[in-house]
Amino acid sequence: MFNLIEAGERNALMVGLREVEFELEDLPAGFDGFRVLFISDLHIDGMDALAAKLVEIIDSADYDICILGGDYTFKYGREEMVDHSNLKMIAKKLAAKSRVLGVLGNHDMYKVAELLDGIGVEMLINENTSIEKDGEKIHIAGIDDSHYYGTDNLSQADAGIDDISFKMMVGHSPERLVGAQGHGYGLYLAGHTHGGQVCLPGGTQIVRGASLPRRFLKGKWKYGKMSGYTSNGAGTSGIAVRFFCKPEIAIITLRRKA
Ligand SMILES: [Fe+2]
Repeated sequence: MFNLIEAGERNALMVGLREVEFELEDLPAGFDGFRVLFISDLHIDGMDALAAKLVEIIDSADYDICILGGDYTFKYGREEMVDHSNLKMIAKKLAAKSRVLGVLGNHDMYKVAELLDGIGVEMLINENTSIEKDGEKIHIAGIDDSHYYGTDNLSQADAGIDDISFKMMVGHSPERLVGAQGHGYGLYLAGHTHGGQVCLPGGTQIVRGASLPRRFLKGKWKYGKMSGYTSNGAGTSGIAVRFFCKPEIAIITLRRKA
């Protein structure tokens, strides 16, 4: 007999690597072809079998830097009950391969930031950093969770970045796109929505998960001059199932717009 939950659990484990490309104005020439491995919404303690799938993808992926989009845990607000063993294993693997930056999501306690920081993940909690390549530089700012905790501070995250450099925003939710565009960001990477997680055939979201029009809730989008990407996420929340919405890790290739 067909079991809907089991089918949804199988779908939730079908994580794929999605290649995405952005043509970006003002991107320094040295960063043309720069590849960002973007992993959001791991919720890794929610499905034991997910870790092995992710390791397979990470091992074979070719990229320059990894960015983690938050929501590392499944058991919302119960830090003492969370088994972090798979998160630690994956973070160590990523940190051995490249520089890793991360932000916090609405499922994350502050202790997760300490744990990841101890492994070598540079947590951007309303702060920024830069990447240098061939004598050129881009800036990456990360905001704290804007969806549930409301502890994001864009002005603080932006502090000290000069006005002429290319800069990228990482926020767990895409809900700060208006502010990021206003601050002159060229690219905004987000997760949080899981692309709907349980969708109608064709991928239409039933639950939006963020106070934004649907065009900002999955995949590539544009807001004014700023480009954006909202990941479907790697894991699940609530119930560990997916329908018509594939879990993903994205490789985002930056291209300089001619
Ligand atoms: Fe999530």
